[in-house]
Amino acid sequence: MSIYPFVRPQPLTSSPAWKALQAHQQAIRNTSLRQLFADDPHRGDRLAAEGAGLYLDYAKNRITDETLGLLEKLAEQCGLHQHVEAMFKGKKINITEQRAALHIALRAAADEQISVDGRNVVPDVHTTLARMAEFSEQVRSGAWLGYTGKRIRNVINIGIGGSALGPVMAYEALRHYSQRDIDFRFISNMDATDFTEATRGLDPEETLFIVCSKTFVTLETLTNARAAREWCLNKLGNKEALRRHFVAISTNAEEVSRFGIDTAEMFGFWDWVGGRYSIDSAIGLSTMIAIGPARFTEMLNGFHAMDLHFRHTPLRQNLPALMGLLAIWNTNFLDARTVAVLPYEQYLARFPAYLQQLTMESNGKHVTLAGTTVDYQTGPIYWGEPGTNGQHSFYQLIHQGTHLISCDFIGFCQALNPLGDQHDELMANLFAQTEALAFGKTREQVAAEGIPDWQAPHRVFEGNRPSNTILAERLTPYSLGTLVALYEHSVFTQGVIWNIDSFDQWGVELGKQLAKRTSPELESTDDPPLKHDSSTNALMRRYRSLKKGAAMATGYDGD
Ligand code: F6P
Repeated sequence: MSIYPFVRPQPLTSSPAWKALQAHQQAIRNTSLRQLFADDPHRGDRLAAEGAGLYLDYAKNRITDETLGLLEKLAEQCGLHQHVEAMFKGKKINITEQRAALHIALRAAADEQISVDGRNVVPDVHTTLARMAEFSEQVRSGAWLGYTGKRIRNVINIGIGGSALGPVMAYEALRHYSQRDIDFRFISNMDATDFTEATRGLDPEETLFIVCSKTFVTLETLTNARAAREWCLNKLGNKEALRRHFVAISTNAEEVSRFGIDTAEMFGFWDWVGGRYSIDSAIGLSTMIAIGPARFTEMLNGFHAMDLHFRHTPLRQNLPALMGLLAIWNTNFLDARTVAVLPYEQYLARFPAYLQQLTMESNGKHVTLAGTTVDYQTGPIYWGEPGTNGQHSFYQLIHQGTHLISCDFIGFCQALNPLGDQHDELMANLFAQTEALAFGKTREQVAAEGIPDWQAPHRVFEGNRPSNTILAERLTPYSLGTLVALYEHSVFTQGVIWNIDSFDQWGVELGKQLAKRTSPELESTDDPPLKHDSSTNALMRRYRSLKKGAAMATGYDGD
């Protein structure tokens, strides 16, 4: 097995840069953001960076210039630059799976050369994009007809994890640009409610299923795809008909044809595209049908612009590297274990969910590349809701709770659906929240407002809560691309510092294996003996008996 050249001889926590950061944190632990801003009237202009059309304000983090210098040293000592080059050059940086992590090739210009095992992969990428474009145009224009000659009015993406979250997030984010006479729906869950509700009221004759699965062995996806096949056959009654109603996106042609989809109706991608990094591959077909090939290309251009920015910009101006290093500072030195992602843009409602897989499946790891257990925290928990909804729900805890939560605010300067002053109001809330979190409200301010003494402790805001603010001109396919790539590379930066494999996901396997063992015990009607732990046995016994009760009540006969 080839050994990744960047396995480090020295544990992270005993590296000079780490130790210097620990000492520095002790030295500045009592310095507040209030103080830092008072000391430097230009802090807000200085601690900001711009790239690929995004503006990042990171001044409201609990950092000084020295912090930045030390984080820069840490990045150097961990070989961030070399790791970035290794990724961009197609080295097998996913060492546990011995694969490259080359999502950057999915948005490379046609004349670029990026090789994996001696083969330039860029022409393959562009051939697939051209096929996707041709097919998308056929569906959008109505040239692609269902078996009975009806136009396709519904496109349903079946997939889970990276084969669902990217498509659904991108569709929602870019809905403003979508073709409105086609309805887009998404099925991922093993829960049949997902399938039932997504197909409710639809006519199979007008419905196209895109079955997305990198491996094409994922149980949820194949189960839902089978249900879709039955649903179509019930109406169309003819296996031949399925050719007009199913396409597959996969790296596994054998399984696709075993399932019954002709590989002529398959769009491929490659093992060097991780599921959670696959939004730009053929997995994005539903997005392309929704917004059209030209806008899809704009989105890829946005990704590519951020890729170039990440690869070539010095660290102090490098948005993803800065965000990644600030995440290290907040997680490991300030003990902030969660990050709230707060887009002030309704179209980005699914963005936090998308980021959860990107960040937590990537960096939820407890051993280093060399297999040693880490003695520091790795991937923080990402979560969030669009503003201003979150303000009336969980912001209380961020402002006055006992956990330190770092926040990423995301806003746009132009509204996509202007309505009176509402966009200014929305953005006023974003700016006000970042201020309130950073500076809080002192006892003196509370007293000056005439608040009685007994109530004052409840009305004081400590402030000093760190946040980043990301601003873009407008939500477009291009800016969405830059935003997603910003987080992809920030996650990468964090993974490099923590010295973990950000591109595998072995942790997902155990639950899958156990579920396989458990389901026959639930499905069997003769109640086979249970050999789990006492808690699981008790739960399963209760399930089996209540399931029978429900069967009697509804007349369900167990078939
Ligand atoms: O949840 C684990 C996972 O392997 C993800 O990494 C992946 O995105 C998802 O399952 C779906 O996998 P596939 O595209 O192979 O169906």
